[in-house]
Amino acid sequence: MLLRIENLKTYFESKRGVVKAVDGVSFNVNRGEFVSVVGESGCGKSTLAYSIIKLINPPGKIVGGRIIFDGRDLLRFSEKEMRKIRGKEIGMVFQDPMTSLDPLEKIGDQMAETIMEHTKVSKKEALEIAGRMLEKVGLPANRINYYPHQLSGGQRQRVMIAMAISLNPKLLIADEPTTALDVIVQEKIMDILESMKKEGRAIILITHDFALASERSDKIAVMYAGWLVEFGRARDLVEDPLHPYSKALIDSVPDLWIDKKIKPIPGFPPDLANPPEGCRFRPRCPLADEKCKREPPVVDLEGRIVKCWHCEV
Ligand SMILES: Nc1ncnc2c1ncn2[C@@H]1O[C@H](COP(=O)(O)OP(=O)(O)OP(=O)(O)O)[C@@H](O)[C@H]1O
Ligand SMILES: [Mg+2]
Repeated sequence: MLLRIENLKTYFESKRGVVKAVDGVSFNVNRGEFVSVVGESGCGKSTLAYSIIKLINPPGKIVGGRIIFDGRDLLRFSEKEMRKIRGKEIGMVFQDPMTSLDPLEKIGDQMAETIMEHTKVSKKEALEIAGRMLEKVGLPANRINYYPHQLSGGQRQRVMIAMAISLNPKLLIADEPTTALDVIVQEKIMDILESMKKEGRAIILITHDFALASERSDKIAVMYAGWLVEFGRARDLVEDPLHPYSKALIDSVPDLWIDKKIKPIPGFPPDLANPPEGCRFRPRCPLADEKCKREPPVVDLEGRIVKCWHCEV
């Protein structure tokens, strides 16, 4: 096992109260495994991703749990120790590459800087590594001499992935890496992520696209209102979803059910500063009853996790 997240809680202080963006999330990621985290906007996916690398800034705070990465609890690590983990052991691809790339610096120089920060190589060697990494993601090596604005959105996203893998991390976290891109470019980026997995890297893909997650990943984590409501093998979860929210999500995705009518999920996700008592999905759930006024238990059967009173595994 490469990553074990145990009862992770990340909260934000706000004027409306405490926003429990990640509230008691637990799951494991094995080496070389591709895990997608899905759920509607605002359910805590990005907060979960940033928590894993401890990039949570005030008013946010990780208030509980454990993040065991490669045998070490990252929540006990100092910021200085985390800087050695970020980039080198855990690579991160953010949603908007334009905000993470310096517009005034050539791609190669930016990549070389990161490489030299973590490894003892000369600038020349670092630029060579940068060129090789660009080729790996399907860009010509000479793009090291380009500035970010000379590349398309898809190419910039490839640069971000090249950067993230340049230090050979064991885990790559990608937060909605294809949201702004067209479908063809999206497929290509997904192919690159899959090839990273074939090299033995674990991948965590954050996406609101259930169809994409089901096509590409080994496992799927379904989040709802800060909770992990279901986790399991992608095929099992799509063919036989156990949590009513997973079922509803699948029914709302046209690509998964070509012959079926799309059924949008009724209602809206709750305000995380003031979630409903008991099960957070209760107000939208077709199965809701008296029991659901209490918080549902988490059932974990050989790695298939469900947080629901009505689910039998
Ligand atoms: N800096 C912040 N201050 C206060 N609340 C925040 C902050 N960042 C996130 N939140 C809240 O935490 C919750 C989870 O947000 P998060 O960005 O993790 O969701 P998400 O699932 O990534 O959504 P999206 O699909 O839109 O990217 C939301 O209710 C959001 O309002
Ligand atoms: Mg997000």
